[in-house]
Amino acid sequence: MNSTRVRRDRHAFYEVAVQGPDWDLDFLDRAFRARNGRDPVTFREDFCSTAALATAWAQRGPEHRAWGVDLDPEPLAWARRHRLPYVRDVAKRVTLVRADVRVAQKPRVDVACALNFSWWVFHERADLVAYLRAARAGLADGGVLVLNAFGGVRAERPLSERTRKRASSAPDGSPVPAFTYVWQQARFNAVNRRLLAWIHFEQKDAPRMARAFVYDWRMWTLPELREAALEAGFREFDVYSEGWDAKRRTHTGVLHRRVNLDNDDCWIAYCAAYR
Ligand SMILES: C[S@@+](CC[C@H](N)C(=O)[O-])C[C@H]1O[C@@H](n2cnc3c(N)ncnc32)[C@H](O)[C@@H]1O
Repeated sequence: MNSTRVRRDRHAFYEVAVQGPDWDLDFLDRAFRARNGRDPVTFREDFCSTAALATAWAQRGPEHRAWGVDLDPEPLAWARRHRLPYVRDVAKRVTLVRADVRVAQKPRVDVACALNFSWWVFHERADLVAYLRAARAGLADGGVLVLNAFGGVRAERPLSERTRKRASSAPDGSPVPAFTYVWQQARFNAVNRRLLAWIHFEQKDAPRMARAFVYDWRMWTLPELREAALEAGFREFDVYSEGWDAKRRTHTGVLHRRVNLDNDDCWIAYCAAYR
């Protein structure tokens, strides 16, 4: 069923540029298992876009089922066209739902997530709490919601980062050419903590895909998220971030629970809210 057409669309580039489903799912598994002493089997990917995580979850085993929720029909259609037909029987265990994540979903699941900072789309606290309440209502007893955030003094300012990505393949098997992923923070407003950011994709011999994705986010702080989560009814809230290997000057790939986090540079935190 492999298509021979080269995939040069923004979703294919996005997945290669910023997503690492297995690494994320390993952490979700671990966060749930630590509290419940068993493996989670049901999962909901809020803000799922092309459902990369939801599908990777269902691929973990015949018991695993996943739901993906997104407001926008366009990425859901992309997932139905370019992903689900290529995972055979697994597709039966993935349900895509077009809905606002502020509406509680059924069935209640073991694990849910809002990754790549998607929840920063909410600018007002009332909207954030409404989302957290709905996410909690859609969790089974003992369930966990994982959200990530970034920050640090080097993050709260205009910047542009370029990362070269090797040629790879899309979920439908078609080749994705090598490209450069550009993350550009255009403006950060300290008064309301709004961040305007863009993703651009650049390839040799092809027009630049400027502003392929546009983000108007509120950079919520970790204590703001903790307080909103507790107000929404979550019992506990833990913060994790990756270890740092000082010798090699690189992250270790392992998330550790933190009660202190250095704000000097730039950090990414994974927050686990327990129902
Ligand atoms: C940055 S993408 C997330 C992609 C992917 N989940 C990831 O981890 O990289 C954000 C997605 O959130 C969706 N979205 C924004 N507001 C939403 C809402 N209120 N309810 C459901 N989906 C929403 C958008 O349509 C978009 O597909």
